[in-house]
Amino acid sequence: MKSVFLTLFIFTSYCVIGQTWSGEVASIFYEKCAKCHHQGGGGPFPLVEYNDVAAVASSIYDAVYQDQMPPWPPNNPSAEFLHDRTLSSTEKETVLNWMTSGYPEGNPTETPPPPVFNEGSILGNGDLEVQIPTYSSKAIANDDYVCFSLPANLTEERIIKAVEVIPGNPEIVHHVLVYVDQNGTEVTDTTGGDCASPSSLQTKLVGGFTPGSTPIIFPNQDPVKLGVTVAPGANIYLNMHYPIGSFGILDSTKVIFHFYPPGETDVREVISEPLLINYTFNLPANQITNVNAVYPYTGTTPTDYSLFSIFPHMHLLGKEIGAYAVKPGQDTLPLIHIPHWDFDWQDFYKFRYLQKLPAGSRLRAYGTYDNTASNIHNPFSPPQAVQFGLNTTDEMFVTYLQYLPYEEGDESYDLSELTTVGLNDISLANDGQIKAYPNPFFEAGIHIEFNDPIQSSNVIIYNSLGTEVHSFGNFKNHTLYWDGKSNGTSVPSGIYYISANINGHFINKRIIKTK
Ligand code: HEC
Repeated sequence: MKSVFLTLFIFTSYCVIGQTWSGEVASIFYEKCAKCHHQGGGGPFPLVEYNDVAAVASSIYDAVYQDQMPPWPPNNPSAEFLHDRTLSSTEKETVLNWMTSGYPEGNPTETPPPPVFNEGSILGNGDLEVQIPTYSSKAIANDDYVCFSLPANLTEERIIKAVEVIPGNPEIVHHVLVYVDQNGTEVTDTTGGDCASPSSLQTKLVGGFTPGSTPIIFPNQDPVKLGVTVAPGANIYLNMHYPIGSFGILDSTKVIFHFYPPGETDVREVISEPLLINYTFNLPANQITNVNAVYPYTGTTPTDYSLFSIFPHMHLLGKEIGAYAVKPGQDTLPLIHIPHWDFDWQDFYKFRYLQKLPAGSRLRAYGTYDNTASNIHNPFSPPQAVQFGLNTTDEMFVTYLQYLPYEEGDESYDLSELTTVGLNDISLANDGQIKAYPNPFFEAGIHIEFNDPIQSSNVIIYNSLGTEVHSFGNFKNHTLYWDGKSNGTSVPSGIYYISANINGHFINKRIIKTK
């Protein structure tokens, strides 16, 4: 008895000493939760400050323990994706241990200052903005899926470098898929609430938005510049999803496109195609059914390709989906595996390194559908036979790939370093409790000055996605200098935030780097 108590006692004391919010836990929440869970973000409540987290502690424990949060459906041990949201096993253990030991706050003057999130655009003004007319969600008994066809009004051909979706109402926009309809053939469909896909497979899928997703940014610097062409006369086609509970709430989502300057050279066109598709399957009621697809239908791929991203797509009966390539010599190249398909969290998964698909390969996709009454997402009660179709209550089995002809060296570039976008934003006045000059700042860096006498401090520079780029230790003097570098490398131009905990109070300031 005694020894059990002693062990527990030691264990608990160890946790209290070892894990506190101000110590190791806050920075995990900043990096892995706050990007969605902040005021005006896609998560249902903020998880930025200690009190936010303490207020919903028990539901956090369950969501983290069961891997429901952070949402990240793929389970791929081999391919690395950009913007992976998963908690590492150490982070998960830290959070759970901290919660079971009573989630101690620690010393608030030592809490790292939180990231700051811009309401509205992250990338700033673009070259083309399209906005849906104000729409009132019809999601009363079912989710509402609607499609808008909007003219791009381009007079010349342009190439997309980045796309940012700005949800009109972040609390109700669950996903947006952005397509380019080169021929202007698609039509707006808001009547049935079940528009899940465009009518033509020629309509090109460029990217998607789910709460907390980063803007769609193609690698746009030497040695890899990628883009998607928009022809004059093309329309932008948006597929929107508003979940149950949003009935009567208004939205007017807009999409901002950033193009390469006209005449930019060496931009390689990304081909976006539903390569792995099966139209002929049948899902009998009350059955689990496996479905497959292969590309090419016969033979193998004729030349080398580089794969940029993968987007598996099913509707509500989907249970599992995956894709891989069989290379010449029968080696397999795993591409993606989503063990628990979730229609609400469909996303484009961009490979951190372009994946080389050598000539002589074959792509394969596999999936499972649960058309029984025990599938809580089954739109029919009792279950009915379902086939391929474009409505949400029909099914689809399709995996889009974004790819391009292979060039020597493609697979060696770390795309996380090439997927940033330069900005030309407004200049900012020096005011408030932090002075920063020059602002905007250049390669030479930026001086930072605090008004208050400093007893304790903790200052972090975050980028506009809420990721830490530089941290200053505890200092006592009033002025700091940041050389504009993160781990020795100059940061790209863009919006940054100085976030500071000075004497236990959080203050922050927006700064801008220009070229
Ligand atoms: C990509 C955005 C995103 C990230 C990152 C994220 N959440 Fe969530 N979270 C949501 C959304 C949206 C919901 C609402 C439920 C839903 O739609 O699944 C939610 C719901 C929750 C809930 C309510 C219970 C539940 O499971 O629905 C908890 C608790 C939660 N999140 C905790 C966390 C924690 C802790 C983290 C970080 C470890 C985190 N979330 C990261 C978007 C996110």
